[in-house]
Amino acid sequence: MATINRDPEVVRHLNRPVDPDAVNGFFATVTAHWDQHGFGFWAIEPRVGPLAGRFVGFVGVAYPTFLPELAQRPELGWRLARESWGAGYATEAAVAARDDAATRLGFDDLISIIHPDNERSQRVAAKVGMTIEGPVFNPHLNMAVDIWHRALRQQAPPEPPQRKLRRTNMAPALPENAKSPALAGLFCNRGAEI
Ligand SMILES: CC(C)(COP(=O)(O)OP(=O)(O)OC[C@H]1O[C@@H](n2cnc3c(N)ncnc32)[C@H](O)[C@@H]1OP(=O)(O)O)[C@@H](O)C(=O)NCCC(=O)NCCS
Repeated sequence: MATINRDPEVVRHLNRPVDPDAVNGFFATVTAHWDQHGFGFWAIEPRVGPLAGRFVGFVGVAYPTFLPELAQRPELGWRLARESWGAGYATEAAVAARDDAATRLGFDDLISIIHPDNERSQRVAAKVGMTIEGPVFNPHLNMAVDIWHRALRQQAPPEPPQRKLRRTNMAPALPENAKSPALAGLFCNRGAEI
């Protein structure tokens, strides 16, 4: 991962600088998240093709502590070695991580924090069903970046509107000229308005 994190093309649009300290501390940070929360980034290894069996980066869910205002919201993230781009690995792993977050981890939703110029990352987010929720100011970059969001639960159906009318035991008073019981019921309800 240190080699991947030193590639300027990989880190071009990241949301925080990957300086030597971050490169050296990366593994400890990832394992500490697993120890504390029981979930975290997955190591990605293609099973077939020229990169079969090689570690090519990470995809997974973690709390984005680098932005305190979002630190309680689980983030789905991805970062792969350049030679593995364009093969669908990020999307395949992100879909699996999204589904794991919904089923095994039981999260209600996920976010991704994405630089507005990071088109490859935006395409992955869109393919896992995310849409832009809004901007967040990122002090590490001194600019606004996008929060992408994906709900993992079906929204509960809206509450039925409160009944404004209630039935009454009173026999409907039929207007003299009324012939239709339906019309009589209508009058009855209107009379019982509360
Ligand atoms: C963001 C990143 C993970 C995206 O990687 P990627 O390889 O471009 O993403 P995918 O896995 O979705 O693959 C994309 C392409 O593979 C192609 N592809 C080839 N074979 C495929 C297959 N079998 N299945 C699916 N897609 C396939 C698709 O055409 C797709 O292109 P499209 O998005 O134009 O349709 C990668 O660019 C990266 O690591 N960037 C640097 C780190 C970074 O910015 N991380 C995100 C911070 S927010």
